[in-house]
Amino acid sequence: MATCSRNLKVETGVCRMRRSLFCAVLCVSVLVTPGTCCLSKEYELPGGQCCPMCHEGSVVKRDCTPQSGTRCVPCVDGTYMDQPNGLNKCFPCSSCDQGRGLFAKQNCTSTSDTVCDVIAGHFCTDLIEDKECRSARKHSDCEPGHRVKERGTRRTDTTCEPCPAGSFSLEGVNCSLWTTCSENQVEVKGGNLTSDTVCEAASGRLYWLIPVPVVVLVMVLIGTLVVLWIKRRNQEKQQQGPRSSVASEEELLPLPRLL
Ligand SMILES: *[C@@H]1O[C@H](CO)[C@@H](O)[C@H](O)[C@H]1NC(C)=O
Ligand SMILES: *[C@@H]1O[C@H](CO)[C@@H](O)[C@H](O)[C@H]1NC(C)=O
Ligand SMILES: *[C@@H]1O[C@H](CO)[C@@H](O)[C@H](O)[C@H]1NC(C)=O
Repeated sequence: MATCSRNLKVETGVCRMRRSLFCAVLCVSVLVTPGTCCLSKEYELPGGQCCPMCHEGSVVKRDCTPQSGTRCVPCVDGTYMDQPNGLNKCFPCSSCDQGRGLFAKQNCTSTSDTVCDVIAGHFCTDLIEDKECRSARKHSDCEPGHRVKERGTRRTDTTCEPCPAGSFSLEGVNCSLWTTCSENQVEVKGGNLTSDTVCEAASGRLYWLIPVPVVVLVMVLIGTLVVLWIKRRNQEKQQQGPRSSVASEEELLPLPRLL
């Protein structure tokens, strides 16, 4: 039968008979290209003749003639053909768009298309035939006050859940229990889903006492000056009487001008 189909030039009456018998029986069978009477590894010309197909990685350059078989050419770079065929052009290789969260897991060859996969940290949003991904998106983050319930995979996005009672989460990854203030601390602010309890040292509440020593110091200074001034005035009153010939050292100092 192979001789009948592959060598048109030796298509004898017997062959023709065999072919039509074959067609009658098998035209609907999978062995035969649907709608034609050619065998599975053959393609049909418009005139109804059958030519042997080109192999994977190549396409037809010239159909077969009664004198010669099919002439095939290999696919050039950037194109591929992954099946036996009677086509004139190779298929263009797919590209894996980084902007769509994809990378080439397997480069294009003359016999197979590029195989794209999802970049780490992304998940597929457009899966074809349960294996090839056409587009992917970055895993979502959970909101503050939530935590990651299940981490994203190549196929699924992150799932989140709110923090359990008594805990909080700043980043939306893990929840931490609220801090319990110790005995010598006071709770300044209660915790909520997104922030921890705020504790403060109990002595922290006495901060207002800090200016007290300053005020006392200033008052002592003023008091001292007042006492000095009074003392000086008394000395001057005494000197208004019998004038002393010896000037005390104190007299040479200028009077405090503060008062
Ligand atoms: C695909 O080809 C590029 C360069 O053409 C190369 O950098 C890369 O490693 C190849 N990838 C695989 C999976 O072979
Ligand atoms: C969250 O918790 C997990 C498991 O308890 C841990 O492996 C991970 O490092 C934590 N992540 C952050 C950001 O704290
Ligand atoms: C939680 O507390 C923080 C700081 O006290 C505040 O800014 C925030 O609005 C609170 N959130 C909720 C949900 O109450």
